[in-house]
Amino acid sequence: MAKKRIVIGISGASGAPLAIETLQMLQKQTDWETHLVMSRGAERTICMETALTPDEVYAMADVCYDNEDIGAAIASGTFRKEGMLIVPCSMKTVGGIASGYSDSLLLRAADVTLKERRRLVIAARETPVHAIHLRNLLTLSQAGVTVVPPMVSYYQNPQSVQEITHHIVCKLLDQFGIECENFSRWGE
Ligand SMILES: Cc1cc2nc3c(=O)[nH]c(=O)nc-3n(C[C@H](O)[C@H](O)[C@H](O)COP(=O)(O)O)c2cc1C
Repeated sequence: MAKKRIVIGISGASGAPLAIETLQMLQKQTDWETHLVMSRGAERTICMETALTPDEVYAMADVCYDNEDIGAAIASGTFRKEGMLIVPCSMKTVGGIASGYSDSLLLRAADVTLKERRRLVIAARETPVHAIHLRNLLTLSQAGVTVVPPMVSYYQNPQSVQEITHHIVCKLLDQFGIECENFSRWGE
């Protein structure tokens, strides 16, 4: 049976470890195939926030794309996929999607995900937020995007930053019905 495809977009918001944890969790999913595109901003935050290089992160995906290559497969609505997850998602990328300004492959892939009525989940990250951020996020939510800000929760009694990161990623992947190991669900 063909693997289910998910497009992963990484943009330049703080939270590169979230993207890495997401790709590592997806590597364990034998029935899923990852298609990765990242912005220049993401390459920068990966270098600043993790011990990995962008190339090492690209190597975690099944298929990688150049963000300038707006003719790549994921730029088309005909590309078969379950959906797209942008983790982390900067306010610039939020603004780009909200205005339909698809001048990169990442933005175009998000745009076609929306127009084809596929699942688009964004780990929108900025704090504090101003009215333009909030308006853009409302626009996206009203267009069917699932906005999952990577907010810390304490009810699972995290013992480390890694556990906090893992819990957020579990919640993101849960949006696609992807079950991660050691996901502490409330009441279970
Ligand atoms: C270390 C670092 C952390 C950043 N964190 C955020 C953030 O949390 N949210 C945000 O919207 N932008 C953040 N930025 C700014 C974005 O990287 C910048 O606006 C960039 O143009 C976003 O472009 P992109 O969405 O194409 O990656 C950060 C930049 C750096 C260098």
